Amino acid sequence: MSKAATADQAVLAKTHRFMLVSDLDWTMVDHNDGTHDKLLAFNRLWLSEFAADSLLVFSTGRSPELFHELAGEVPLLTPDILVCSVGTEILINGTPDGEWEAYLNQGWDRARACAIAAELPDLVLQQDSEQRAHKISYKLSMPDPEPVVAALRSQLEAAGLDTSVIFSAGVDLDILPSRASKGKALSFLLKQMESKAGRPEVGVMVCGDSGNDIELFAVPGVHGCMVANAHSELSNWCEAHGSDQLFRATKDGPGGIVEALHHFSFPNPAKSDTVQRRLALTSNLAWYEDWCNASVPKDADACSRQMQFLDPSFEYVHPSGTIMNRAAFVDWFATQGYGCHSGSAAAAAAADPTTGGGGDAASSGRHCMWLDRYSERQLAPGVWLARYLEQHQPFAAGKHTGEKRVSRWASVILLQQTKPEAGAYRVAYIHESLVPVEQARA
Ligand code: GLC
Ligand code: MG
Repeated sequence: MSKAATADQAVLAKTHRFMLVSDLDWTMVDHNDGTHDKLLAFNRLWLSEFAADSLLVFSTGRSPELFHELAGEVPLLTPDILVCSVGTEILINGTPDGEWEAYLNQGWDRARACAIAAELPDLVLQQDSEQRAHKISYKLSMPDPEPVVAALRSQLEAAGLDTSVIFSAGVDLDILPSRASKGKALSFLLKQMESKAGRPEVGVMVCGDSGNDIELFAVPGVHGCMVANAHSELSNWCEAHGSDQLFRATKDGPGGIVEALHHFSFPNPAKSDTVQRRLALTSNLAWYEDWCNASVPKDADACSRQMQFLDPSFEYVHPSGTIMNRAAFVDWFATQGYGCHSGSAAAAAAADPTTGGGGDAASSGRHCMWLDRYSERQLAPGVWLARYLEQHQPFAAGKHTGEKRVSRWASVILLQQTKPEAGAYRVAYIHESLVPVEQARA
């Protein structure tokens, strides 16, 4: 058995509560949201309420190369499964699924399909990285592309080629084996899950905005979220195939996905302590992000309230190697932290406590932080070890600055302070240690 097949079985053979399958460009990623606040809000929701028992799948038209480019620029979580190139490449832990590739090879004659498309002068080949083993991609930019799409389809059919032609975002044209699409890749994954631990228990939700997402919505039994900014290719299809399982978001991109998760309210096993612990960590990081961006008032009381989460025995191991006890950490934090990422010294000065703070962080730039690849284990009753990648990335004037992302592995020991059934769940940090990561991707 190949290495790829072994890797696939591990993730597909587990029982999962829920599965989210999302397109990236203009769905999970709103390229107009310069600071990616909506995506960061999705990340926090996913990490706290779903990641413990659910699968996150990204299904994109991009090649793995262009996916990694995007992942280096925007705050994307690491997906459990990555489907690239319009469903023609399934990657688990970075390893392509050999079985899917072999299945797509059957009856696929790439060279002949290329030769037929080359006869149509309106089709302009996309960049080399987007020409894949089972995907041939063009740009088709004209006011009325439909006749060209129809001509290509009929010529491929007349030549006896088993292909499908997918038109997306009013400009991208892909020729794929007819066995492939984002939807067929999802059906393949679901079939594998069914034969092992079963389908996700409370459902599968697909999210998309353009033509290459249509087939995701057509997979039997799935819930669908069409984001508000969807193209007519998808919205026309949804118009014709509406059902209770299909939600038209009123918000763009990731804001729409969060809206759909609330709309369907996929059952969650109460507010378990797992969720509470994750919420405590994500909201602490969100507060820290705001503090560093000078976008919360510099309020000594608020700061000391935050520091109450530190157990008296707390110790902190900074990436530089400095070790601080609780008192040293609190002093250091208060003097070093506030406004340190707000883009300019003037922003921090403007965020004076007497003026209520805030600075000009929003206009000059923003330093985003998010947690990724979270895992935890219980060490003893009420004591947990959590490990996650703490990601820091600056954005200026709504754009990726080109500055390198800072990634650190954080190991945190947490002490549960209240029994979950007794009401408010609180955790105290006993230990936090941060190790810088050169190459954060698995
Ligand atoms: C992505 C791919 C491109 C494809 C398009 C639509 O943009 O990079 O090759 O044509 O999605 O599927
Ligand atoms: Mg898209």
